[in-house]
Amino acid sequence: MLDKLTYAGNLASLEGLAGDRFRFVRGDVADATLVDSLVAGADAVVHYAAESHNDNSLRDPRPFLETNIVGTYTLIEAVRRHGTRFHHISTDEVYGDLALEDPARFTESTPYNPSSPYSATKAGSDLLVRAWVRSFGLEATISNCSNNYGPYQHVEKFIPRQITNVIDGVRPKLYGKGENVRDWIHANDHSSAVLTILENGAIGETYLIGADGEKNNKDVVELILKEMGQAPDAYDLVVDRAGHDLRYAIDSTKLRTELGWSPQYGDFETGLAATIQWYRDNENWWRPQKAATEAKYKVQGQ
Ligand code: NAD
Ligand code: DAU
Repeated sequence: MLDKLTYAGNLASLEGLAGDRFRFVRGDVADATLVDSLVAGADAVVHYAAESHNDNSLRDPRPFLETNIVGTYTLIEAVRRHGTRFHHISTDEVYGDLALEDPARFTESTPYNPSSPYSATKAGSDLLVRAWVRSFGLEATISNCSNNYGPYQHVEKFIPRQITNVIDGVRPKLYGKGENVRDWIHANDHSSAVLTILENGAIGETYLIGADGEKNNKDVVELILKEMGQAPDAYDLVVDRAGHDLRYAIDSTKLRTELGWSPQYGDFETGLAATIQWYRDNENWWRPQKAATEAKYKVQGQ
């Protein structure tokens, strides 16, 4: 496991894992020498590492280019040299956004149309992988997943930010009017889909991962408030995100029919309640990041 331990990394997430099942190396996916030495000893590489947060990419895009573009380039050059199986983790945001009332959902053939510096760098990284498959015969697959929720998620992200705000007696913050729709999937379902693709996916193929979890942000905040014993309108509307994508929605038919995958965390409300309980029980895990995260939001009135 290679991780740079940026502000988003947290070694405490590894506590409780069987020590003989993994080796942790602190380093950068854009470090070609280190990456080459690790790939030399690997059967397969699954590439999760990224700068992942849209709001950060609006404040300072450069790390997104370095990690998401140069980091992915560094990895695919190493796996090309060593003939190693590669799986690239990506996002539904590469497809841009959909209108609220549009019955359409993203499929593997939706044209790329990213909106933010983050999603543009993820789109660029996907296209590098596709080009390396075609030009160099790279043994790679790609997955594009919708919004994850669950335990161990950084407090900058929407759901953990609001849960930990309520724990701290702070009102949740909704961008704009709270109308934007995200397609929520439990992080464990994302993981099971990635394993399925790694084991059974066809080389060169892209698979969309989703669990039919469309909800607008206002509805999600109201569910959090209800579950945490607060009034349903105890939130604030704050300044909107620049270029804010309106709606994401995934059609995961290909993954389900060709590879037989299905999500196990079907009921969002149950998964959300368990997630709230996890943040209540694991303040030691998230507390060290909370103040610095909120300070960044405060600067932009969010
Ligand atoms: P995160 O920002 O919470 O964590 C990113 C991890 O990558 C951290 O541990 C960080 O230390 C590490 N990292 C960052 N730069 C690195 C570098 N240069 N070298 C090595 N390690 C580095 O991200 P996340 O939300 O867990 O997302 C993980 C992956 O899943 C990303 O590729 C993201 O695009 C993708 N994804 C996320 C979601 C979501 O909802 N969170 C949905 C779809 C796809
Ligand atoms: O769709 C997959 C993507 O989901 C991943 O590729 C990204 O890595 C991941 O960060 C996530 O991107 P979003 O921008 O959709 O997630 P975020 O948690 O930042 O915001 C979710 C929605 O909630 C979005 O419409 C913005 C809104 N929001 C967010 C925050 C932090 C708020 O209304 N208030 C907030 O405080």
